[in-house]
Amino acid sequence: MGSTKGLTGPIMDFECVAQREAPPIGQLNPPHRLLCGPGPGNADPRVHAAMALPEIGHLDPAFISMMEDVKALLRYAWQTNNSFTIPVSGTGSAAMEACMANLVEPGDKVLIGCNGYFGKRLVDMADRYGAEIITMEAAWGTVFSFEQIKAAVEEHKPAILALVHAETSTGACQPLVGVGDLCHDNGTLLIADCVTSISGVPCHLDKWGVDAAYAGTQKCLSCPPGISPLSFSERAMAKLMNRTDKVKNWYLDMKMVASYLVGGKGATRSYHHTAPISMVYAIREALTIVAKEGLESRWARHRKNAEASGPASKTWASSVSWILSTGYRHLQPLRCRRGLIRVRFASMCSTNIKWKLETASATLKGRSGVLA
Ligand SMILES: Cc1ncc(COP(=O)(O)O)c(C=O)c1O
Repeated sequence: MGSTKGLTGPIMDFECVAQREAPPIGQLNPPHRLLCGPGPGNADPRVHAAMALPEIGHLDPAFISMMEDVKALLRYAWQTNNSFTIPVSGTGSAAMEACMANLVEPGDKVLIGCNGYFGKRLVDMADRYGAEIITMEAAWGTVFSFEQIKAAVEEHKPAILALVHAETSTGACQPLVGVGDLCHDNGTLLIADCVTSISGVPCHLDKWGVDAAYAGTQKCLSCPPGISPLSFSERAMAKLMNRTDKVKNWYLDMKMVASYLVGGKGATRSYHHTAPISMVYAIREALTIVAKEGLESRWARHRKNAEASGPASKTWASSVSWILSTGYRHLQPLRCRRGLIRVRFASMCSTNIKWKLETASATLKGRSGVLA
């Protein structure tokens, strides 16, 4: 078709006729559920109220100041002085991918602990960024001993060791004491998946020498999903800054994101992407609640909830047993007895007692599990 310049009414009328009818969808009415993976993960009403506040521009000085609050509060939640500690736009997998995209250079040896579902996701991501992957395996539901980690790091001297601190699929909590020093002695960076552990169990990034950590908001931070904490140590930042190739992910290129969230000399900021304003309000509110409660009280509360939910679940479902042997202190893994299909069990819970359990998607010691 030629130029429409000078044409009158009929064409405009034609363009103003929708070709598809609006679907007959009614009012939004989500059911009420107790979110139990780990739980409860439901957002505090204050977080919901914060999300309803009027949005402002992503470079508004008031917004930049809120972003600085979030960064300071995250440093508290993670017990770190890392200046590059930010909220990434996207869910926990976005911050996980930010670690892989920015810290894995093609050909890097990356050692990954696989003792559950999320270790496998790390393998998949590292593979996409050209890593030479070495996996360290342990049975689902168990953790790696320090000796096992030491032997693997000393043998392979990888550029990166990635471990899941709290493996949601099994409830196993990986001890990290001493692992950072071991890594640094061998020229290795330590990455930890803290999606389920942040503010639920002690997470001492600096004391443990963790170089890169990522988390999610929908677990122990009790904030809806959509924004994800990320922290890089100076070592991790040096690896990123010394890269000669481009990070193979535009959206998650932390050198570029830093120009927005960290700023240059005199803290000038430039646009990279539009931050999810309401999610920044949400995480800021959720983190102020964490700070007010205090980490120690919060860790104790999560532990108490986990310890109570196993026996509690036993009273209403004789088909599950719970596992107390993993040393996990804020998540209660349940194991379905033979003959009970985990998905049916989880659906029974959400219908009958309004508990939303997470279902592990593979077998744990031969049997499917759900998490409370
Ligand atoms: C241990 C762990 N890592 C990574 C993820 C991925 O986070 P998300 O689903 O928020 O993208 C999850 C999600 O449950 C998780 O539990």
